[in-house]
Amino acid sequence: MAKILEVKNLVTGYRGKDGFIKAVDGVSFDIEKGETVCIVGESGSGKSVTSMSIMRLVEYENGQILDGEIIFNGEDLTTKNAEQMRKIRGSKVSMIFQEPLTALNPVFTVGKQISESILFHQKMTKQEALIKAEELLSLVGLSEPKTRLKQYPHELSGGMRQRVMIAMALATNPELLIADEPTTALDVTIEAQILELLRKLREQNDMSIMLITHDIGVAVEMSHRIIIMYAGKVMEISETSDIIRKPYHPYTKALLESVPTMDGERGTELKSIKGSIPSLNQLPKGCRFAPRCPLATEQCHSQEPPLVAKDNRQVACWHVDKFINQADTEQGREGDYVE
Ligand SMILES: Nc1ncnc2c1ncn2[C@@H]1O[C@H](COP(=O)(O)OP(=O)(O)O)[C@@H](O)[C@H]1O
Ligand SMILES: [Mg+2]
Repeated sequence: MAKILEVKNLVTGYRGKDGFIKAVDGVSFDIEKGETVCIVGESGSGKSVTSMSIMRLVEYENGQILDGEIIFNGEDLTTKNAEQMRKIRGSKVSMIFQEPLTALNPVFTVGKQISESILFHQKMTKQEALIKAEELLSLVGLSEPKTRLKQYPHELSGGMRQRVMIAMALATNPELLIADEPTTALDVTIEAQILELLRKLREQNDMSIMLITHDIGVAVEMSHRIIIMYAGKVMEISETSDIIRKPYHPYTKALLESVPTMDGERGTELKSIKGSIPSLNQLPKGCRFAPRCPLATEQCHSQEPPLVAKDNRQVACWHVDKFINQADTEQGREGDYVE
């Protein structure tokens, strides 16, 4: 399969009030053409920094890509200058964010904002751009698109604003759409609608999607493959069907156990695993997950496990074999995950 994106050993750092931190520390993964890949992890895992690095937006907020390559369609984005990136951003790669209100300009109408972004990348008249904007609004399922064009962002609901953002992102037929927690600010019904829209658009437009979410339940529904991140590192990369059947990393297992159950009980914190993600200027010496891991041994506390290939996946855990066997027994007992 052809790859649309290859991220190789990405390291992104920030100089902040607490000193220098690496928010993303040696992250590698790829996305195939037409594939949806989800990046999952608790808040502070480096998911947004990964996407902002790909878009080369970290430079605009004190960040710096320190190492690695970001190969998009065969070209390394880390070598592009600001002008080249402006052309790539919003045309071949587009991004949508969690809170569309902050990404939309409050003083311009929806129509003006969409048509301006079309005109930035494509040669056409203002009138033609407005017609295209109207088509895009109906494509993303907004009723009365003509009326919407004349409205300001604050006149729309959260779900409608996210649809407007998606319309803007699609204006130039991107090959890769990066969606960073696009439904986190929305209620569950609207969330389901937006996810369904993304699924439909991916199929129709043959795009790849990199979807970022802290909710592994959303990832399971949406993706072909899942990347689990924790404190700036990749913990596991796996086909979605494999991850549901059997998580290979204890952190993945903890995330899956926090998914709402059939009876609607929603885990607010990671069931069975206490504590929280370490702060990046006080990282543990060994595995970053070790302080919260039920399997952690001396080795885990002293040495960082590398990400290694295991079956059809990649996993960073010293005890992966032991854990797989243990998980097997437990699952056998519960009668879950039986093929
Ligand atoms: N603009 C910034 N300045 C300094 N540190 C930042 C900045 N953005 C992110 N970070 C650091 O990177 C960490 C990971 O952030 P982020 O990628 O936003 O996590 P998430 O997985 O929740 O999207 C944060 O906890 C913070 O320490
Ligand atoms: Mg984020």
